[in-house]
Amino acid sequence: MKRHSLLIVDDEKEILRTLELTFEADYQVFTANSALEALEILKTERQIALIIADQRMPDMTGVEMFERVIQIDPRIIRITLTGYTDNAALIDAINRGHIYQYIVKPWERQELRVMVKRALQSYELIVENQRLLEELRLANARLHDENRLLRQRIGQDTRDLDVIGKSPALRSVLDQVNRVLDSSATVLLTGETGTGKTLLARYIHHHGPRRDSIFIEQNCSSLSEALLESELFGHRRGAFTGAVRDHKGLFETANGGTLLLDEISEMSPALQAKLLQVLQDGRFRRVGESHYQHADVRIIVATNRDLEQEVRAGRFRADLYYRINVFPLHMPPLRERLSDIPALVEHSLKKFGQALRRPVTRISTEALQVLCDYDYPGNIRELENLIERAVLLNTGPQLDLGEWLPMASLNHTGLSRLEQIERSEIERLLDKHAGNLGLVAQELGISRTTLWRRLRQNRLSA
Ligand SMILES: Nc1ncnc2c1ncn2[C@@H]1O[C@H](COP(=O)(O)OP(=O)(O)O)[C@@H](O)[C@H]1O
Ligand SMILES: [Mg+2]
Repeated sequence: MKRHSLLIVDDEKEILRTLELTFEADYQVFTANSALEALEILKTERQIALIIADQRMPDMTGVEMFERVIQIDPRIIRITLTGYTDNAALIDAINRGHIYQYIVKPWERQELRVMVKRALQSYELIVENQRLLEELRLANARLHDENRLLRQRIGQDTRDLDVIGKSPALRSVLDQVNRVLDSSATVLLTGETGTGKTLLARYIHHHGPRRDSIFIEQNCSSLSEALLESELFGHRRGAFTGAVRDHKGLFETANGGTLLLDEISEMSPALQAKLLQVLQDGRFRRVGESHYQHADVRIIVATNRDLEQEVRAGRFRADLYYRINVFPLHMPPLRERLSDIPALVEHSLKKFGQALRRPVTRISTEALQVLCDYDYPGNIRELENLIERAVLLNTGPQLDLGEWLPMASLNHTGLSRLEQIERSEIERLLDKHAGNLGLVAQELGISRTTLWRRLRQNRLSA
């Protein structure tokens, strides 16, 4: 057993000395002449595992002192020394679990040693238990996060698959989409960020023959080359430092389903070559493995860049470009389909009204006008962010642009003004509730998760 620290508390010097002699060979022993002194020692000596205290001391009783010790560290083993056996306070304290055991004076030295030894064994169990519990809690939280991420990435979530809009520009894309739905042809989605490329990829998957299999999205710019390679193709245990077990790649996981490779222009030349091989021969190898596997995966690639230009600049393989360009679909920016704005606003109001639990059923004409007059460089994602914020700040069933409406039209100044309003509102509430996120969320009428996201987006910390 490791060397534990004990604290002995008694106003009688002689008893302190005797107990110190009993234990100093086996433990580190601290002594205190009064309960207050003992509590002082506890503040600085955080490793104390067990306290033996006299019940009758001038400043407070041993039991009273232990009630304070529990506040400091409930794991510390508490033993009382007493001259009486029928002390009601003592019995009560034992019953309430405030002390571990009591020793009646005069005591047997050996008996006391055994008692302390046993008590420390149970202390170790408690500490170990707590450590394991904490580990379990952390592992659970990690798993929970991983699960959520996976579910998100797998995109099995089929709510929110509606592609809203009747503008000729969007209609024409959807007409083309309907022609590839029944095949497994590779699709190339181009368009600015936020125009709905990911949404369209999910739409294609969920309306095609692979709808009962998995849909996975992988961003090609978010991982290093080596990580992306093993993420996509998998690796064999020992293939590189840190490859402690076999790893199944997305081409295996997505077997029978659809794999969306986003920001394809960011893929390294070496990986571009491997992707080309999958597209041409339908086969691939795990990193560190010599045999090929067959891939039955529908590939959709997306990019917000001009791939032709990337090819000319020598950054993207021409052969891969021709191979993925079989069925190109271009998502027009929102400014080229302004007539879709009202429907998108309505859709977003419903979506965020539900998510934020603040139902908004109408929007004022002025507010809608302002929203229609804006050019949305961030496209539909920006429109959604805007509506989410507005819903968050709005009260009542009608969305008014309130404070920022006088700015005549929604320009970039108006937007940053809106951000400021949200920011200062959250800051005010954080202040008011001393950083208690639960209370802030409650007052805003949103969930803690939503609040977290808003804090992150506004770079605020609680
Ligand atoms: N036509 C649409 N109807 C409804 N929601 C849309 C539409 N287009 C895009 N969205 C929504 O806008 C957000 C951004 O779209 P996303 O597909 O992620 O864009 P991209 O992949 O092009 O960056 C998503 O929340 C998406 O659901
Ligand atoms: Mg996307």
